Amino acid sequence: MNFQAELRRKLRATLEGLVPDPEPFAAMLRPAQDPRFGDFQINCAMPLAAQMGRPARDVAQQLVDSLDLDDLCDAPEIAGPGFINLRLRDDLIAAETRKLLSDERLGVPVVPSSKVVVIDYSGPNVAKPMHVGHLRSTVLGRSLELVMRHLGHQVITDNHLGDWGTQFGMILYGYKNFRDDAAYQSAPVQELARLYRLVNQLCDYHDLRAELPKLRDSLAEQQQQVASDESAAAAQPKNKDLAKVVKKSREVLDERAAAIASAEKKIAAVDSDAQLAALAAAHPRISELARLETAKLHAGDEENVRLWNEFLPACLDALNAMYRRLGISFDLTLGESFYNPMLAEVVRELQDHKIAVESDGAVCVFIEGNAAPFIVRKADGAFSYATSDIATIKYRVETLHADVILYVVDARQSEHFELLFATAAKLGYGGIDCRHIKFGTILGNDRRPYKTRSGDTVGLESLLNEGIERARAIVDENDNSKPTPELSEEQRARIAEIVGLGGIFYADLKHNRESDYVFSWDKMLAKTGDTATYIQYAYARVMGILRKGDYAADDVRKLSGPIHLATPTERRLALQLNRFATALDDVVAEYRPNLLTQYLFETANIFAAFFDECPVLKEADASLKESRLRLCLGTADILRTGLRLLGIQVAEQM
Ligand code: ARG
Repeated sequence: MNFQAELRRKLRATLEGLVPDPEPFAAMLRPAQDPRFGDFQINCAMPLAAQMGRPARDVAQQLVDSLDLDDLCDAPEIAGPGFINLRLRDDLIAAETRKLLSDERLGVPVVPSSKVVVIDYSGPNVAKPMHVGHLRSTVLGRSLELVMRHLGHQVITDNHLGDWGTQFGMILYGYKNFRDDAAYQSAPVQELARLYRLVNQLCDYHDLRAELPKLRDSLAEQQQQVASDESAAAAQPKNKDLAKVVKKSREVLDERAAAIASAEKKIAAVDSDAQLAALAAAHPRISELARLETAKLHAGDEENVRLWNEFLPACLDALNAMYRRLGISFDLTLGESFYNPMLAEVVRELQDHKIAVESDGAVCVFIEGNAAPFIVRKADGAFSYATSDIATIKYRVETLHADVILYVVDARQSEHFELLFATAAKLGYGGIDCRHIKFGTILGNDRRPYKTRSGDTVGLESLLNEGIERARAIVDENDNSKPTPELSEEQRARIAEIVGLGGIFYADLKHNRESDYVFSWDKMLAKTGDTATYIQYAYARVMGILRKGDYAADDVRKLSGPIHLATPTERRLALQLNRFATALDDVVAEYRPNLLTQYLFETANIFAAFFDECPVLKEADASLKESRLRLCLGTADILRTGLRLLGIQVAEQM
């Protein structure tokens, strides 16, 4: 049983007569921090009392008197200023655990009202190989998909490919000017990616050279600013606000200096390479001309449309190979190009309803409180990322009948989504729950975005390969250290794949998604600590117990005797298994898969303590032995299911 949900339901009912909005108070029923105080704590008597102008302990007493918890808890205790401590009845935990252990859904109910949830995730820009930056959207989106489906929602996943944007102009320009025919014939995607990188580098070169004088001016300005802030601060050494101003303006100075250094580095990289320098000199207007190629494509230019149709299938093949490897398939893959025929109409509708207006030749939506306009048609007539995202919302609501739309996209696009959702509300889609599920950046040890040694972005393919290779070394070492190694070559390879990919995914999911995190192979593949490996080992350990005792898992699942809570650790483990449903609810409430990794890590930890303290196969009492065996298997079933909902597999033997 989801004890927390059940207790909250009762608390909410009691609060109904007391306050107009019981929800925030009911949410103050939480697991107890310290098991000595019981299993749950109600912490809302104090704020309630403040609101009602009464002593907190009286309010706590009133809550206790009117809450009828006899069927769930021992007598509640009021502690300190008005905390209410609840301890679940042992017989209830035992009975509910027994039910859970023979329930296919492991105590996780299906939601009473299922919603149509569109999850927009991954969404790479095609024609460049996927890189480490695509990992978070893909992994987070995938786990939200799996958890929501498991709870019974009607999930539609949609891969909103960037297949129509400016990068295609660069590829078209590259193809027309720099292509290597033999390379294109033998490996088209690689050649297109090379062309993209080349054109991008040359565009950057010219753009940065043009920008450099402005950047230097703004650096000089900032140097003066810092000097004047510093002298103001020096005049009033005790003024903390001035000290903060100095700190802030030094930071701005450092940022500008870093931007110049990075620009100079990029420029030097071209200048110092005779071939690149010659290309740059021969193509001085490359940025403008690449943009023109995009514009021609959008306008239906015959040659560009033909080339686009030629490039796309190869690009999609390469992406699909990656998704197959990750075990992902999307319900829909409607890239930006899908919406192209609808864009003119979208802009017309926005203008007809006076939601968008002309400004400096462009068509823009202005949102109150936002300085930046949402540009739906540029001055040169081109539609934008914004326009196609508005068309996308219309499609998802009108054709897919979405109730909820989740966008699992980098936090750096926050402004885009704020403007998009505000525009959608003006168009009458305010009732749709649109959410930007934002996430931070993966950093290297230098705390800058994770790059290879040579400064290139890390390709996803090579990242996965390296994870699997490193996992293989661990698997080999582990098995070779046994008195007699147990694993075949085939098994080792399979386990390395499961551990390697699982380690990468888990490391990504366990962080609060809004935070940046530092990528570390050693941490993510450690056998102890908060890693997939640790949880996978706990699972394999249970399977080892069953093998040793010669039990088939399915036979154990059919046992139906009583569950004994003979020791405090057994009780803790049983209670923890009943929290699986709570953990999944928590994931969906905030769209945070890290609440599931946290739950699984705790479960594996409690299991380790249980395994240390409670004999299983050696237990002499047959009924207790059976109960423990079932707790072991229940733990394994929950660990396996939980990991599966994160997109991570387990091995029976490691
Ligand atoms: N292609 C975009 C990018 O790489 C992500 C797409 C996200 N989805 C959306 N509907 N805007 O940044």
